[in-house]
Amino acid sequence: MPGDKSISIRALLLGAFAVGETRIAGMLEGEDVLSTAGALRRLGAHIAQTGERQWQVRGVGVGGFAEPRGALDFGNSGTGCRLALGAVAGCPITATFDGDASLRSRPMRRVLEPLERMGARALVSADGRLPLTLAGARDPIPIVFKPPVPSAQLKSAILLAGLSAPGETVVIEAEATRDHTEKMLAYFGADVQVDRLDNGGRRITLAGQPELAPRPIVVPADPSSAAFPLVAALLVPRSEVVFPGVMMNPLRTGLLTTLGEMGAAIEPLERRNEGGEEVADLRVRAATLRGVEVPASRAPSMIDEYPVLAVAAAFAEGVTVMRGLKELRVKESDRLAATAALLRGNGVTVEVEGDDLIVQGNGRPAGGGIVATHMDHRIAMAAIVLGLGSERPVQIDDGRFIATSFPGFVELMRSLGAQLS
Ligand code: S3P
Repeated sequence: MPGDKSISIRALLLGAFAVGETRIAGMLEGEDVLSTAGALRRLGAHIAQTGERQWQVRGVGVGGFAEPRGALDFGNSGTGCRLALGAVAGCPITATFDGDASLRSRPMRRVLEPLERMGARALVSADGRLPLTLAGARDPIPIVFKPPVPSAQLKSAILLAGLSAPGETVVIEAEATRDHTEKMLAYFGADVQVDRLDNGGRRITLAGQPELAPRPIVVPADPSSAAFPLVAALLVPRSEVVFPGVMMNPLRTGLLTTLGEMGAAIEPLERRNEGGEEVADLRVRAATLRGVEVPASRAPSMIDEYPVLAVAAAFAEGVTVMRGLKELRVKESDRLAATAALLRGNGVTVEVEGDDLIVQGNGRPAGGGIVATHMDHRIAMAAIVLGLGSERPVQIDDGRFIATSFPGFVELMRSLGAQLS
């Protein structure tokens, strides 16, 4: 299984701000991670591959980025770009950020607004999209920030900028989102306090200007990548597959909860702690699924898993209602529209009502469609999973973007018996 994308990108960024050498094992060698590594090199970090999925970062210290020549190209990676915006905002340098057509269509204002309150200045077009130029703050100001949307990228950007500010930077999230940044900051020696709030939210308090000490990082398998072959195993009769070392961080396991409610028996074998995260080997057998209602409150813990959950729902008996999917509209594509079109084009009855997605399961979709993937890796992989179980084969218009998060996906699926050409 490929390494976790969120943790791989954070390992590079924190390694770049640490003084000394950070060793990373199990790194995701996907394009999102490689483009982030490329940008960090241009900001002065030394990053080298030392073996298979083994990497080494020699950092420049908190706030120590050098002014890059030319634009930083983050390719398809929203996480790499937004986290780096935060890191650069606390450095006295100016940098231009850019990406591919998908990343150029995504909103950046949500990150720039709080970073400007911290003293950075952004030169950006009226629509708040890339390319943009950020002048970091000479004297960053710590802020108290309440993100207007549940977003780990946004939270992380503010915390990374807060590293360079004196005093306490506080992020108060109304709904808890993935906590890898806060955990890794603490692991590198920063003073980070996380308080759970009564309403399910969290308050994260970071003491600024720490010296980050490099620590070895072991990247667990990405549950958001495992989701695709895992759902395929549920849908294809007589399948039994074991997925080794999948991260079980409770802020990432909403899909497993939902599939369990739908009737899947996913057995965690050997739960253990690896590199500060809980992991387990997951045994999955083919199952008959039933439709369920997925509450909006679960969205942050499975935000990247809705396309493949919608595919599972198409094979279930009865209706599945997925509520509160507004944020899906601003992912690598408009994922709410792309997921609905994926299903509709393959004979599944589906409705988008406001921010909810409603899928009418029918046991076995017809298939036979050509899916528009819109530069979105997760739409491409979800369509392939649908095709494994549908009556007729499914085509996708472009498989290239799968390499952003899951290099080797096609080979892995073939090794499990999938016929892909
Ligand atoms: C990520 C956060 C999520 C998620 C993305 C990875 C992260 O985005 O969709 O794939 O690593 O912080 P948002 O923060 O925009 O919800």
